[in-house]
Amino acid sequence: MGDKDKFGATLRRRATITAAKGESKQLNGTNATSVSNSSGKAKRKIQESFTTDSLNEHGKQKNASYDKMRCHKMQESMLSSASGFRNYRGILNWCVVMLVLNNARLFLENLLRYGILVDPIQVVSLFLKDPYSWPAACLVIVSNLFIIVALYTERKLAMGSFGEKYGLLIHSINLSVILCFPVITVLKLPSITPAGGLFALGVYTVLFLKLYSYKDVNRWCRERRHTKARSLCRSLSCPSGQSSENGGQTHVSYPGNLSLRDMYYFIFAPTLCYELNFPRSERIRIGFLLRRLFEMLLLTQLLVGLTQQWMVPIIRSSMKPFKDMDLSRIIERLLRLALPNHLIWLIFFYWFFHSSMNFVAELLRFGDREFYRDWWNSETVTYFWQNWNIPVHKWCLRHFYKPMLRKGVSKWVGQSAVFFASAFFHEYLVSVPLRMFRLWAFMGMMAQLPLAWFVGRYLRGNYGNAAVWLSLIIGQPIAVLMYVHDYYVNNYQDEPLEVEAL
Ligand SMILES: CC(C)(COP(=O)(O)OP(=O)(O)OC[C@H]1O[C@@H](n2cnc3c(N)ncnc32)[C@H](O)[C@@H]1OP(=O)(O)O)[C@@H](O)C(=O)NCCC(=O)NCCS
Repeated sequence: MGDKDKFGATLRRRATITAAKGESKQLNGTNATSVSNSSGKAKRKIQESFTTDSLNEHGKQKNASYDKMRCHKMQESMLSSASGFRNYRGILNWCVVMLVLNNARLFLENLLRYGILVDPIQVVSLFLKDPYSWPAACLVIVSNLFIIVALYTERKLAMGSFGEKYGLLIHSINLSVILCFPVITVLKLPSITPAGGLFALGVYTVLFLKLYSYKDVNRWCRERRHTKARSLCRSLSCPSGQSSENGGQTHVSYPGNLSLRDMYYFIFAPTLCYELNFPRSERIRIGFLLRRLFEMLLLTQLLVGLTQQWMVPIIRSSMKPFKDMDLSRIIERLLRLALPNHLIWLIFFYWFFHSSMNFVAELLRFGDREFYRDWWNSETVTYFWQNWNIPVHKWCLRHFYKPMLRKGVSKWVGQSAVFFASAFFHEYLVSVPLRMFRLWAFMGMMAQLPLAWFVGRYLRGNYGNAAVWLSLIIGQPIAVLMYVHDYYVNNYQDEPLEVEAL
């Protein structure tokens, strides 16, 4: 500080002298009297500036010598919240480094103990028992029949050949069969493996949600058409269902949308909510598409590798503590499983919601890419369910929750009904392929309601966020272990048990 002040004073003094010199130089060309006058003024100026500067300098020298002695001031420690310090980037990097190091150790230990367990051929055998029999794929191909029935019904409704009630009956039968037919097939056909069954049921569930939305939206269009027609007194200006070109994009209006092409675009589009005119991107970005494809391939390998090498040995070794009902060992295995399970779930999230959905969307030039929002910042369980799976959340809001609220159902009952339906589908997707009904997934989903209430009521901010993470990290492996244990007891009771795991 002192040095700085001295330096400043020197600079100012030099500037005053230079200014005075400059002034006298400028005046050289004029008459002598004015020269002598002005040189006198300049001298006075210089003298004045020297006097004030020397006074300032004296004070500043005094201050500087005082400053030299002071080395403390009033301030808070950085880690205390009152300091206002918020930059913890270094700590975050430290966490990442520690995570990588710890996992590297686990990876090495795992390799030393088990050798390489990764076997891509085994993945194929998860889906197929017999390479010449593809029952799950056949089941998926048959699903086209239900798509055609839905389209045919909508065309008849648009033409007025079917009444609204009759149309609703056909749609209801069609949707019920979509849910029941794969269940009966999976339960009756022993050649369908659990993985194959899960794939087929997943496709049918998505189809159920899509066709439900298709039915609703077309009904809304008919209702709007009737209202418009009534208000225009059967005027011919009522839209006749033609397609129009708007800025290079075709704009369809009801019933022009009831075509096979439109239906299949919706079936393959990464959304569950039907719309007559989806937002479309202008072109396919090849670079973006290839990046997503590369991610999909890489992450699939990683998912398979981590499951076979890390998760399966832990699950196998958890069976004995379960059989002996050794509680402390069960908890220990559960915590061991939590890490690989959570890592695999995170990778799955990125693989499905970012890479795969963006890949399909880019291929179809589907414009709305909001497949997820920042669920990782969730401070409440409600926020998590609103943001982690946007296609399902949008469907729930548009076709289930809001219609219920409009009918006068309370928010609490509406939310409970949505979670009940979601719990049903979770159980449906797990129990049927495994051919055992244990309700663990159902209970896990229903438990979200009291958990949401507890976190919303008692925990806020970072504590709420930690509670959401904890429920994800611990909740899932509990369900996994429950199902695997029950599946093991059902199918491999007599096989010898593995005891050790990393
Ligand atoms: C149940 C669920 C739909 C509730 O969603 P939410 O966003 O908390 O619901 P809210 O009560 O805040 O209301 C949401 C909407 O309803 C609207 N709404 C509220 N009261 C209304 C009423 N009486 N009539 C019509 N609309 C109403 C709100 O305006 C809001 O609309 P917006 O989204 O356009 O802003 C949500 O938690 C959910 O999707 N849960 C299940 C998720 C799930 O199972 N996912 C599975 C993933 S594997």
